[in-house]
Amino acid sequence: MSTATTTAIESSKGIDFPYEVVPVHPKFGCRIPDLDISKPLSEQEFNWIRGLLHQYGVVAIPNANLPDDESHVNFSRLFGEVEKSRFRSPHMRSLPFAEIFDISNLDENDEIVMPGNEKRITAIRGNSLWHADGSFNPRRTYVSMLRAIELPPKGTGGETEFADTRQAYEDLPEEKKLQIKDLVAVHSFLHNRQIANPDSELFKGRSVFDEPLARHKLVPIHEPTGRPMLYVTSYAHHIEGLAIEEGKKLLKELMEHATQPKYVLRHQWQNNGEAVIWDNTAVLHRATPGGYEGKYRRDMRRTCVMDSSTEAYGLNNQEEAKNQRNSS
Ligand SMILES: [Fe+2]
Repeated sequence: MSTATTTAIESSKGIDFPYEVVPVHPKFGCRIPDLDISKPLSEQEFNWIRGLLHQYGVVAIPNANLPDDESHVNFSRLFGEVEKSRFRSPHMRSLPFAEIFDISNLDENDEIVMPGNEKRITAIRGNSLWHADGSFNPRRTYVSMLRAIELPPKGTGGETEFADTRQAYEDLPEEKKLQIKDLVAVHSFLHNRQIANPDSELFKGRSVFDEPLARHKLVPIHEPTGRPMLYVTSYAHHIEGLAIEEGKKLLKELMEHATQPKYVLRHQWQNNGEAVIWDNTAVLHRATPGGYEGKYRRDMRRTCVMDSSTEAYGLNNQEEAKNQRNSS
């Protein structure tokens, strides 16, 4: 993340921080430079980290020092039930833990993905659109934790951006808040991939209406803080009860509002071993492209923890959630 700039967030007052917390944006995001999570944490320490996550939405831990995938999964379990991939694409590396999602630019042979690899390139482009992990699932994703194994050389790109959707909601005109307060967005994994690579043969003849859809409130409450947020991700295809084009227009308008530069922070990855955790029920994120693509290895691994808040299942059937697809 960029250098510390501004005032600490008010609600951090009164908490006895065992480590320095550096805010990285006027309204959200922080880093904890001295925190090493490879060591066992007390319940109090973990609760403190979780409290920061709820308050700031994004927490960078540059010296996380997790030694391996297993410790990454174990730390993630402290937040709740960790998602498992049900299906490993033959175009991805075979990583040993089903809980670890491969967010690298490496193919099944551990080689750098090249432009001709359409499936992988489409997924990479899909991740560069604003989204919340797992919004296309009937049960949402709560925490994501991304860990840098091997970063490309500095200055070759690969930053991760975050958008503060709680503040973006708060700043909307009252009239707009009233207009959207009870709306439901319909999310589709396919939709994100189609807009990422619209001309691809992969999507010819496919319609989002023939594939799984998930219904989530457009303005869910972030339960730990009680603050509403704008759940407008690039998986959101339309709005229930509105004509398709009208819903798309509203989604676009809200997305543009929520991702204005004033609501965005750009995280610059510093060193291998760094980890960033974020709350998908409070912020959006996206990968950014860069000169490293097709040239340098970028090995990133991620876990996702399922949401257990009252908004977790949106308006979906909880039974369907048992068969939900992988997170992305
Ligand atoms: Fe993501």
